[in-house]
Amino acid sequence: MTEPCHNPAAGERAARPAGAGPGPSGPDLAPETRMLQLASGHLAAQAIHVFASLGLADILREGDRDAAELARLTACHPANLHRVLRFLTTIGVVTEIESSRFALAPLGQTLCRRPLSVIRDNTLLVASHYYWDAIGAMLHTVQTGDNAFQHVHGQSFFDHLASHSADADVFHAAMTSSSRMGVGAILASYDFSAFRQIVDVAGGQGALLTGILRKHPATRGILYDAAGAQAPGAVDATVADRLSRVSGDFFDHVPGGGDAYLLRRILHDWDDDKAVAILRQCRKAMAPEGKLLIMELAAPETAQAGNDWAAMDVLMMLMLNGRERTAADFEALLSAAGFRLARIVPTRSPYWIIESVPV
Ligand SMILES: C[S@@+](CC[C@H](N)C(=O)[O-])C[C@H]1O[C@@H](n2cnc3c(N)ncnc32)[C@H](O)[C@@H]1O
Repeated sequence: MTEPCHNPAAGERAARPAGAGPGPSGPDLAPETRMLQLASGHLAAQAIHVFASLGLADILREGDRDAAELARLTACHPANLHRVLRFLTTIGVVTEIESSRFALAPLGQTLCRRPLSVIRDNTLLVASHYYWDAIGAMLHTVQTGDNAFQHVHGQSFFDHLASHSADADVFHAAMTSSSRMGVGAILASYDFSAFRQIVDVAGGQGALLTGILRKHPATRGILYDAAGAQAPGAVDATVADRLSRVSGDFFDHVPGGGDAYLLRRILHDWDDDKAVAILRQCRKAMAPEGKLLIMELAAPETAQAGNDWAAMDVLMMLMLNGRERTAADFEALLSAAGFRLARIVPTRSPYWIIESVPV
């Protein structure tokens, strides 16, 4: 859930106390400066979130503007918006080209609305109020083992989405644009042409399945997800006659009739017991010659600087009690659910395709 592109440690200079300012980062900084920079990363994250939420990148794409004008266009408090824009200047999102007048910098352009706004959509998600509050309970989770999201919001992540439609829209927009961005890498690495019918289990709004069906005109698809998760009309008209939507709970039932079952970014949402329960439902639904294709981040045995998966692993812990897994972890889950891991197909993205067969 979210692309692995939200490392809060992303290096900006912290020559001043609050961690702002483009320039040397990492090994170029004194450890004290670097530590203050990292520890104040929440200010940068929230300022970027404000910038994205207000659509300021799209306004500034049209030309530079005064802070007062930007405040008027976005119905904001002029002095406070001006102060945040100055801070955003120090971290390279905008440039203050003259006093109180701002232009979009190349970094800020990543937050423009486009046909595929992956960075914008994921920025709106990772610093959204409902993620933010749960991330703030990390110490509680580390000390107690309790789930942060449940602790802060009083309900599980997916129950929250089911009862907060605006939050669900932000979540599904981020999932859909990330999936659309990832389809090319999956299609380039795996041949789906032999499959007659593919079931995308918890396939969200169908971006992956649509991409596969567009490439393989003889293949049909079932898009399965929780009731309410599938946006009406979101499926591409060119595949609509070959794609059916089914709603349900994958802990109770998974539709039969597929010769391939996809699970993309699903198992990382759940602890091992729940992941095995989902896999068992897939196993029950599948014919003996069917194939299960799990698409998840490739987690190595040990963490190293610069890895994306460890940040995602912590995020999954906080939001859902989920986790990222190594190849050995997947092998154990699959074997507990009646599958054999046949092969792991790397892709040019950070995702693996783990092909498994019923035993
Ligand atoms: C992280 S998103 C991944 C969506 C999609 N596979 C992708 O890669 O973009 C997790 C999906 O699981 C679905 N989901 C969560 N709980 C579910 C349940 N009990 N039954 C069916 N789907 C569920 C959510 O609605 C959401 O679409």
